[in-house]
Amino acid sequence: MKSKFFLAPMADVTDAAFRILCSNYGAGLTYTEMISSSALARKGENKLFDVQKIENPIAVQLMGNNLEDISKAVKIVSKKVDLIDFNMGCPMKKIVNNLCGAALLREPKRVKEICEVLVSSSKKPVSIKIRSGWDSNSINALKIAKIAEATGVSMITIHPKTSVQLRTGGVDWKLIKKIKDKVNISVIGNGGINCPEDAKRMFDETGCDYVMIGRVASKNPYIFKQVDDYLKTGKYDSKCYSEMIKDYLKLAEKYKTNFNYVKGHIIYMTKGIVGSAKLRNDISKAKNIKEIKKIIV
Ligand SMILES: Cc1cc2nc3c(=O)[nH]c(=O)nc-3n(C[C@H](O)[C@H](O)[C@H](O)COP(=O)(O)O)c2cc1C
Repeated sequence: MKSKFFLAPMADVTDAAFRILCSNYGAGLTYTEMISSSALARKGENKLFDVQKIENPIAVQLMGNNLEDISKAVKIVSKKVDLIDFNMGCPMKKIVNNLCGAALLREPKRVKEICEVLVSSSKKPVSIKIRSGWDSNSINALKIAKIAEATGVSMITIHPKTSVQLRTGGVDWKLIKKIKDKVNISVIGNGGINCPEDAKRMFDETGCDYVMIGRVASKNPYIFKQVDDYLKTGKYDSKCYSEMIKDYLKLAEKYKTNFNYVKGHIIYMTKGIVGSAKLRNDISKAKNIKEIKKIIV
């Protein structure tokens, strides 16, 4: 991997063009958004599984709870990816109500069964992505990490917030350190990175092996170059949002990205820029990439 900074899986955000953009800017590993293993197993394909030949390394993220479907899905995706990641952290109601995502943290026995199926269904390395636990009274990330390690999982991402916290509240980086100190598999720290300085601090404070970056990358995908430069030289430069958008649009055209994703990215990348409200209003009315190109000069 060319760097220790990874692009987080994000639903409706991490399309192929965006992943390749982040990779071009220096991300060491990128992930597809989470894909239902049952949907994939049923049809044998899924439009969210949009991995391109040029993507290397690339991880797919699966979610689900049905062991047979998980095994089938792993076999379908294995050839095209370098890592199979499994979601045990999504707190969304429609996911946890089906006993998937973060709901699995309440079922360590099921976690063990799923990890065993993941590892035995593919020769590719497997990772899981977890939260701290279900709620503040049931923090069990270390127990889950040990189960994963014992079953042959190679890597674990910890986003140290509970499921009931959703996207609110603080992240407990001490938990990342605790897990890193107690397991012998690679640990990816995730959450609370807003600038290159934060990423360095996460390495320093937790000793994690890799840092995963989510929301700030959707606003500023160039962060991957910035964090890498900052770690190596102590300084970094910035890239104008219009340059990032132009780079993204070229890729979106090439990989025929769903236009709603394209608009979403431009809206994220222009947020917080002085005078950008009118720009976003114009973008929201655009019907295709050609019209967007005329607006972003
Ligand atoms: C729009 C959005 C979509 C997300 N989708 C996923 C997903 O599909 N799978 C997953 O494991 N996490 C998902 N997440 C969580 C992120 O991967 C990440 O754990 C979280 O945003 C914390 O990292 P950050 O503070 O760097 O954003 C999503 C987050 C956002 C904001």
